[in-house]
Amino acid sequence: MIKLNTTTAAAIAATRRAVGVPRQVRLRNGAPAQIRALRSDDAKRFGGFVARLSAASRGERYGRGFGTCTPAMLLDLVNVDGVRHAAFIATLKLDYDEEVIGEARYDVSTDGDCAELTLVVADFWQGQGLAEPLLDRLLEAARDAGLRRLVGEVPSSNHQMIRFMKRMGFVACAQGADRPVLRMERGVAPRLPQAPAPRPVDVLRRWLNNQLFQFGF
Ligand SMILES: CC(C)(COP(=O)(O)OP(=O)(O)OC[C@H]1O[C@@H](n2cnc3c(N)ncnc32)[C@H](O)[C@@H]1OP(=O)(O)O)[C@@H](O)C(=O)NCCC(=O)NCCS
Repeated sequence: MIKLNTTTAAAIAATRRAVGVPRQVRLRNGAPAQIRALRSDDAKRFGGFVARLSAASRGERYGRGFGTCTPAMLLDLVNVDGVRHAAFIATLKLDYDEEVIGEARYDVSTDGDCAELTLVVADFWQGQGLAEPLLDRLLEAARDAGLRRLVGEVPSSNHQMIRFMKRMGFVACAQGADRPVLRMERGVAPRLPQAPAPRPVDVLRRWLNNQLFQFGF
């Protein structure tokens, strides 16, 4: 097997991203899904996805009381420039088409280096680990677009999304105790791998060695 150095591998990865090669992911239940950029010809598929969401999920993502997308809204949602507005979907392959089962999107705010994130997974497919690769793909796009931070305005009642974002390295910014919406934020740079916590047996061994050394053994 040819071994690539990290620079070459990073360049290939960036090129694959730029030309929009879909990414294959395997969900916790073993189902194969793919993550790809949302395209303008996805309007019908995407409309079906929004319509199939439960009222609760649709409300968390698009606002309480949101019903169906009008054709004009759908056009707006699927026409993204990929830089100031980027959107990725997770799909399942069907015989002649694809079914959309998740969406992650960012919109650049007025200050230029920060974008607001939104994320939703089809109810049936929640709990299958799909949000993570969707967010990873969005973070890559944000890095490629030169952004520095992603933020999410999440109602404090949306515990699932808040737990997920914390797991993914977002931190809650200062907010008043009475604020119903939490502002979660993180830089778009990849997180450094954490050093594994020392095993209790190793801590004990180190302590014993110190004691023996102190008493001259
Ligand atoms: C929030 C949301 C995006 C998370 O997506 P997801 O793909 O379901 O996320 P995950 O699969 O990583 O995790 C979901 C939960 O399943 C749990 N889980 C872990 N392993 C699991 C397994 N093997 N089987 C089932 N569930 C599992 C996770 O621990 C997590 O639970 P937690 O919240 O108690 O930590 C999704 O719930 C959603 O679309 N909600 C509605 C829309 C919304 O709120 N959007 C945010 C506003 S922008």
